[in-house]
Amino acid sequence: MQGKLIVDPTNQISKIDDRVFSALIEHLGRGVYDGLYNPDNPLSDANGFRQDVVKAVKDLNIDLIRYPGGNFVSGYNWEDGIGPKDQRPTRLDLAWRSIETNQFGLHEFMNWTKQTGTRPDMAVNLGSRGIDAARNLVEYCNYPGGTYWSDLRKQNGAEEPFNIKTWCLGNEMDGDWQIGHKDAEEYGKLAHETAKVMRLVDPDLDLVVSGSSTREMATFGSWEETVLDHTYDDVQYLSLHRYYDNEENDLHNFLAKSVDFDEFISGIVAVCDAVKARKHSDKTLNLALDEWNVWYHSHKQDDETAPWQQAPHLLEDHYNFEDALMVGTMLITLLKHADRVKIACLAQLVNVIAPIMTDDTGIWLQSIFFPFMQVSKYGRGIALTPKQTADAYDSKDFTDVPYLDSLAVYNPEHHEVVVFAENKGEDAMDFSTELRGFTAQSVIEATQFAGYDIKQTNEDQVMAIEPNDHVTLTDNTLQTTLQPLSWNMFRIQVAN
Ligand code: AHR
Repeated sequence: MQGKLIVDPTNQISKIDDRVFSALIEHLGRGVYDGLYNPDNPLSDANGFRQDVVKAVKDLNIDLIRYPGGNFVSGYNWEDGIGPKDQRPTRLDLAWRSIETNQFGLHEFMNWTKQTGTRPDMAVNLGSRGIDAARNLVEYCNYPGGTYWSDLRKQNGAEEPFNIKTWCLGNEMDGDWQIGHKDAEEYGKLAHETAKVMRLVDPDLDLVVSGSSTREMATFGSWEETVLDHTYDDVQYLSLHRYYDNEENDLHNFLAKSVDFDEFISGIVAVCDAVKARKHSDKTLNLALDEWNVWYHSHKQDDETAPWQQAPHLLEDHYNFEDALMVGTMLITLLKHADRVKIACLAQLVNVIAPIMTDDTGIWLQSIFFPFMQVSKYGRGIALTPKQTADAYDSKDFTDVPYLDSLAVYNPEHHEVVVFAENKGEDAMDFSTELRGFTAQSVIEATQFAGYDIKQTNEDQVMAIEPNDHVTLTDNTLQTTLQPLSWNMFRIQVAN
């Protein structure tokens, strides 16, 4: 098999926003309790924060943390999570049918973001609550002092405002499973009014309005149009969520779902731009892909889990090697949309459909950790339009799917071109990258993630990214072989 990528600095998609390397942490299962926070575990510090988790989160170079949900937020009283811990109420979490002790709340979350070098992306409850709770929360977080809510924050130990900039107006409000689900008209009006009032408290907020929770929703497209009719001028971002599965156990169709992902994002961009045109607006709306991942392995176990437990094992997908390839191709796809996707949150981060898993004695890294870590670490800079040629295949739902998925990022600060390339085929691929308009000097690093059985998971921690020693660089062309079913990265030094 053959694959070729032409890299040219004059063909730029966009600078990649650091916020595309973000993640969701939800009060769900062992995501927060047991995951981030476990005061009884010797691996935790005096705050109760698991230090092995903090280190792994730092290794992933995460930017924003979307919090506290997810579906959870639509039934959450944020006030339950502030003040002395022994006075916080224990409640039923109706979204996940669990017990919520509220021992981890707003201040704990903000402290944890400080430890991990991440930033908050706060969701407000537009399900069971609304404008009032949202405006009070903004006042509590961002108002300097001298008012009821800001003084309460100080009393609870945070003298300085949290100054939270990014806020989500609810979560998946299009879905009937959502507590307080609304139709597009109802949600659009509520989101508009909530945005207005939150901005009366703090004019300097970036707001994300909820788009469709999946492309399969009957309201997909019309939901966005109606909601944006009400909120186009109020918000900076429209959210979209996307999870993929391989329930049918068809590897090639699974990996071809990046085509669907690409079309999904393009479709939403088209809807935003249609509303822009209809409104004669000068403003271009960007996207917050604030939930994405593979999710399906845990469905059966979740159905069998007894309700009303504290920190139950929920959504604990154990990811295999093919899932890592899927996450890799999703990462490349979202970078292809770097001009419009400005926020993207891997859902989620710890224990719950997560790259990082904990048990009482330590952590283990899932297969999906590895491609995410590499793209988050080295995919910083300008995404270049991939001019690619490759053999292609047809699968059950897709035609003409290239075996190769590739993209280069130019990092002008480090004078580096970084190529990410995935071989979706079961044969090795002769792969070349031609750098036009750059003077390639050397290969800084060449790695491959390959050779595992597609169903292999990583509980026993055997998976690792390995060096690829069979790379040549001649006349601005990098030449190598991509192993069958492999994720690859090449860092090339270029002249100033
Ligand atoms: O990430 C798990 C769940 O997926 C979130 O709570 C919800 O927003 C989505 O349906």
